[in-house]
Amino acid sequence: MPVVTMMPSGKKIEAAEGVSILHAILDSGESIPHKCEGKAECGSCHIFVTEGKKSLSKIQRVENEKLDTLVGIGSKSRLACQALLGGENITIEILSFM
Ligand code: FES
Repeated sequence: MPVVTMMPSGKKIEAAEGVSILHAILDSGESIPHKCEGKAECGSCHIFVTEGKKSLSKIQRVENEKLDTLVGIGSKSRLACQALLGGENITIEILSFM
């Protein structure tokens, strides 16, 4: 099972492969902004993936279109609700706080 390390807290959670980063975090009892409940509409779940990005699902059109509307995106940007975990551990930086 892949491990997600969440920065800046440094907390680690285990999640099943194929689960979105958002659901992995919420299912573990941790929190992350998710105003549209995972529909790729709000952008509040914007994260940077600092390690393991290649193991995630590819960015689909709906995610790419939303990322294009956000301020402060970079090459490590993903929407936690759209990025599905692969088999490798990842490290993410949560950019906004509830
Ligand atoms: S929860 Fe709204 S874009 Fe991810």
